[in-house]
Amino acid sequence: MDRPTTPEADTSGAGTGSGPANIGVVGLAVMGSNLARNLASREENTVAVFNRSRSKTDELVEAHPEAEFVPAFTYEEFAASLQKPRTAIIMVKAGRPTDAVIDELMRVFEPGDIIIDGGNSLFTDTIRREKAVSEAGYNFVGMGVSGGEEGALNGPSLMPGGPDEAWVTLGPILKSIAAVAEGEPCVTHVGHDGAGHFVKMVHNGIEYADMQLIAEAYDLIRRGTGKTPAEIAEIFAEWNRGELESYLIEITAEVLRQTDAATGLPLVDVIVDEAGAKGTGAWTVQTALDLGVPVSGIAEATFARSLSSHREQRDVSGALPGPSSEDFTVEDADAFIEQVRLALYASKIVAYSQGFDEIRAGAAQYGWNIDLGAVSKIWRGGCIIRAQFLNRIADAYDAEATLPVLLTAPYFVEALGRAQDAWREIVQVSASSGIPAPAFSSSLAYYDGLRADRLPAALIQGQRDFFGAHTYRRTDKEGTFHTLWSADRSEIEAEDTH
Ligand SMILES: NC(=O)c1ccc[n+]([C@@H]2O[C@H](COP(=O)([O-])OP(=O)(O)OC[C@H]3O[C@@H](n4cnc5c(N)ncnc54)[C@H](OP(=O)(O)O)[C@@H]3O)[C@@H](O)[C@H]2O)c1
Repeated sequence: MDRPTTPEADTSGAGTGSGPANIGVVGLAVMGSNLARNLASREENTVAVFNRSRSKTDELVEAHPEAEFVPAFTYEEFAASLQKPRTAIIMVKAGRPTDAVIDELMRVFEPGDIIIDGGNSLFTDTIRREKAVSEAGYNFVGMGVSGGEEGALNGPSLMPGGPDEAWVTLGPILKSIAAVAEGEPCVTHVGHDGAGHFVKMVHNGIEYADMQLIAEAYDLIRRGTGKTPAEIAEIFAEWNRGELESYLIEITAEVLRQTDAATGLPLVDVIVDEAGAKGTGAWTVQTALDLGVPVSGIAEATFARSLSSHREQRDVSGALPGPSSEDFTVEDADAFIEQVRLALYASKIVAYSQGFDEIRAGAAQYGWNIDLGAVSKIWRGGCIIRAQFLNRIADAYDAEATLPVLLTAPYFVEALGRAQDAWREIVQVSASSGIPAPAFSSSLAYYDGLRADRLPAALIQGQRDFFGAHTYRRTDKEGTFHTLWSADRSEIEAEDTH
């Protein structure tokens, strides 16, 4: 396709909005450059590109002549290279850099133009930004992008928020570059303002939980059966052909199979056992705490990464009393591995159920109309948690859109029933042999908490009433009550102070 270059007359200001490009990308590091190439690979798109430092723009344009990018070296040139409504995706570091780029784009764009933040922004920042940008007459869309650099290039899962008006222009463009799962593009208009970044945040939180559960499964199998990482890789490869089929299980097999070229050892044995984090897991947990949603699997996974990184504490704690996991061996390795698989599946169901609870609570709190079934469908391709299993979640919400607990959908009830005994056995074994399995055990505790007919929360209410006169409700009559603990301990009706 022959594409015109930026009109020279337009390069000194905002331009006429008749430039050659229908979409632009600002920020050409790994994510932005790959997303720009993905956009350019569609016949219908002409892509303008801009980066703060010129070298990245030059490198991209030179390395990919086939993309026929329209390069810009100032914000003015960038605005001039775009058709109206100008549509630009920002892919820069989250936080201040994103604000800086938005300010620049508002300077050179015009009301009605569309500014999309595709970075990993905190949803409350997105809400703030949309308010400010839309008050000035522009459209602002906070969009979650998942799938890393490979996804950005070949088809990510996209979670745009923002106004309906922007979706009209943006929808077809995003559908053209998103991953496709079972014939459907992995993009939906998630909801208004920060809804897209909220959903992306929870996606990452679920990703933390899923990764931690897989790591616990690997650890138990290795310690219990003495199998090598390469042998365990084959177990994960086998699991990937069943109900656990997912990208994360697939790459686990790849990582475990890898031999370190320098030492000849399994790569996993030469990697320092301290897990890093970029903060989205912590955001998911912090937000869940604010919303009062128990996401214990995600929280344990986030804390497990923190614990692993506290080397100084681990170094002085090795001699603490307890069973040695070195002494742990199982008699029937195949049976044990199957128990671990079932425990992993059950715990994973809990983690996803908790994540969807958080999205539901967020939607209620912030007034978003989020279709949970549609969210599970756009996670089936392109993103890190892509998995066959998400079809089951979509089915559950298709059958009952307002399902209060995902765990109670018939498919999951059956799966949890099947996994029950193995799950409990594995949690017991991990505790008795001193192998930490925080996500497995907290998921089971959450599950039993939900099932419980009576919880010791009644005692907590009694304690709260004792020391703080926080009152309680009774099981046998309406109203709010307080016991006069420091007087004659008679009960009075009281105002609910929580
Ligand atoms: N990496 C992933 O797998 C992944 C996945 C999903 C989402 N994301 C999100 O996507 C976004 C981009 O990620 P990335 O890994 O490609 O890049 P990054 O390392 O997060 O950011 C580098 C980019 O930000 C630009 N930048 C930094 N400060 C700036 C400023 N004040 N004004 C203008 N531009 C500025 C840099 O420009 P210069 O070249 O001039 O320094 C460069 O283009 C981030 O928000 C990230 O969280 C990343």
